[in-house]
Amino acid sequence: MSDVYILGIETSCDETAAAVVRSGEELIANVVYSQIATHQPFGGVVPELASREHLRAIVPVVRQALEQANRTLESVDAVAVTRGPGLAGALLVGVSYAKAITYAVGKPLIGVNHLEGHIHAVLLEERKHGKWTPQFPLLALVVSGGHTHLYLARQREAGWTYHDVGHTRDDAAGEAFDKVAKLLELGYPGGPVIDFLARHGHGHAVKFPIAQIKHRDRNPENRHGDDETRVDFSYSGIKTAVLRYVEVHNMRKAIEERRRKLREIASPKAEDVLAACDKQTLDLVASFQNALVNDLVSKTLYAARGNNVASIFVTGGVAANSELRARFEAQAGEEGVSVHFPSRKLSTDNAAMIAAAAYPHYLAGDFAPDDLSADAGLRLR
Ligand code: KG4
Ligand code: ZN
Repeated sequence: MSDVYILGIETSCDETAAAVVRSGEELIANVVYSQIATHQPFGGVVPELASREHLRAIVPVVRQALEQANRTLESVDAVAVTRGPGLAGALLVGVSYAKAITYAVGKPLIGVNHLEGHIHAVLLEERKHGKWTPQFPLLALVVSGGHTHLYLARQREAGWTYHDVGHTRDDAAGEAFDKVAKLLELGYPGGPVIDFLARHGHGHAVKFPIAQIKHRDRNPENRHGDDETRVDFSYSGIKTAVLRYVEVHNMRKAIEERRRKLREIASPKAEDVLAACDKQTLDLVASFQNALVNDLVSKTLYAARGNNVASIFVTGGVAANSELRARFEAQAGEEGVSVHFPSRKLSTDNAAMIAAAAYPHYLAGDFAPDDLSADAGLRLR
């Protein structure tokens, strides 16, 4: 099979991204325009602003990716675009643009599920290190600002199939990081700054219990085998527990003081935030992160054991967390299960993962119809 060059486009949330990947294994160009600065003052993504920023950025971002790859639209084999899940208006920008350019140059279009993209980011990088082939079924933990999902992935012909064996009942893990950071005035996005601050605090200072939801699926239609082990997640309780801790320990004044201090700095760095935190705050964020990481790792390993998997993929924005990585590596290693992460750059949203995930669809001739539409609630199966 000759080389296949796919241009990937991603606009599902707050990153406008384009990339060129060769045959699902070599990253040729990768451009990510992050809207963080736009959403920062609001402490979260504002959907209307996200769509407007995507509209502004999409043409230059795609052009830059093609230039970096030394290619033109005419010399790629296909275009892949995220069609969901995500913000409806944001997705629509990418889907409409991808439809227009493929129509103009007569190239095939492939619609990709964003979550399948995150999973294939791992494969793309493992392939870069050599001819590693995953053992199926594998378990993928997709953990980001919008998702906390466990999928059992199997191979079917050229493509993969996915079966949901667990997901969050309320907030996503990244959302909990972002909301706790907002409550404590640590900045946005919360994950990277809490990751940094937690290294300076005591992770066992405050006990945060997290709901344990491990069960067999009662609905036979949802079962893949006879004996499927399911685990669900729930992170809205821990966010409320942090809020309660703040109230009980009268931390409001210190939070307000930090807000004032950080407002005086043009773009505060993690070190500036650290300098504005007392020991109590550092212990609180370290304990929060410890509880959340513990929950993610223990439930994923429980599902891995219950479903007999040999390898685990951990991916999505929260997979960049250093404590999560260290704990997975240590604990999975003890159990003889291999754990695979994307690099930090490919953990958060990007288009390389979309172009990589599109490759098996290309091989299977699985192309999008002319009337492809964005689907904000798209499920992975
Ligand atoms: O995958 P992503 O870029 O976008 C979504 O699809 O949501 O993930 C963004 C999320 C944010 O909630 C952010 O706080 C979190 O990933 N995140 C982290 C870290 N880096 C990003 N969470 C914990 N530790 C990190 N180092
Ligand atoms: Zn994502």
